[in-house]
Amino acid sequence: MYARSAARTVSQARAFSSSASRQTNVTVLGAGGGIGQPLSLLMKLDPHVKKLNLYDIRGAPGVAADVSHIDTGSEVTGFAADKLDEALDGAEVVVVPAGVPRKPGMTRDDLFSTNASVLRDLASAVARVSPKAHLLIITNPVNSLVPIASRVFEKAGVYDPKRIFGVSTLDVVRATRFLASVTGNDPKNTPVTVVGGHSGDTIVPLFSQSSYGKAVTGEVYKKLVHRVQFGGDEVVQAKAGAGSATLSMAFAGAKFAGALLRGIAGEKGVITPTFVRSPLYLDQGVEYFASNVELGPNGVEKIHPVGPISAEEEELLKVALTGLKQNIEKGYKFIE
Ligand code: NAD
Ligand code: LMR
Repeated sequence: MYARSAARTVSQARAFSSSASRQTNVTVLGAGGGIGQPLSLLMKLDPHVKKLNLYDIRGAPGVAADVSHIDTGSEVTGFAADKLDEALDGAEVVVVPAGVPRKPGMTRDDLFSTNASVLRDLASAVARVSPKAHLLIITNPVNSLVPIASRVFEKAGVYDPKRIFGVSTLDVVRATRFLASVTGNDPKNTPVTVVGGHSGDTIVPLFSQSSYGKAVTGEVYKKLVHRVQFGGDEVVQAKAGAGSATLSMAFAGAKFAGALLRGIAGEKGVITPTFVRSPLYLDQGVEYFASNVELGPNGVEKIHPVGPISAEEEELLKVALTGLKQNIEKGYKFIE
């Protein structure tokens, strides 16, 4: 009896925190693209979204007209190429999948020369029009573009490190799904923490912290780590020149944005890995790092340390920190 009423109290509290919660204005920059379209669809389904503004240099009004017919509460508006400021007016969360994707044989770093300028210009507009917005960067290379956006905000005098995020959720989604393929566990209840950054060997899955993951050893473990680190290549190769992950990324982007929206709405204990300005490895010259972060009304509420890890993970982390340092410096160099 007591247990049942206690359970009811918990579920009532949950229901209260999600149904009575605050709604937020969201803008998607790059809404006409491979990620942007399904991401816009998923954001239209999120009950925490009040206004959904869709912007792209091509095709956003069409995507908006389409998505706007879905019978959920949010109002959707599309903005053409010359309407960036209008798209950002009143934005509280800005999600950015704008920019070019990889083709086979390219690294994420090969996208830098095009996407660094795209991101710099979009971040400048956000800093000018909606400086208090939370900025979620999906565009690659994430490890270099988050530092670029941070400097843009700094130069504009509006930098709040708690509000700029590199979206590394696809690594978490992959690690969780790939582990389930190996062990047969239910991925829904067994997320894997992934730390570091978002490219190749800067991606460090912490299987030792998962009750299913720690049982995976030897060659199977090595293959699993490699698959998480290079899962993006798997999709790029399979798409054979038609781009990189779009659908799984839209899912991951909506998952991260949804978590932030719940945090903004006041839900407690919303914790997920994301690439942010971080004190964790500052002593080794690494200013940005993905680890578990508690999300709340101000964005980053608390950065969690990496916690206990295995000897193999220590080695992976060492390699990741070296790569991250280079990626971050490359971003800074561009923006100086
Ligand atoms: P895409 O080419 O299908 O779409 C990109 C869209 O951006 C296009 O519609 C284009 O018109 C738009 N765009 C370009 N410049 C713009 C600008 N200045 N302002 C507004 N819109 C602009 O590419 P995609 O497959 O959607 O991938 C987008 C980016 O996301 C790529 O850089 C890709 O590498 C990255 N990505 C990141 C992750 C991640 O885990 N963080 C995962 C997958 C892809
Ligand atoms: C991914 O991990 O799928 C993305 O970063 C896209 C890519 O280029 O691999």
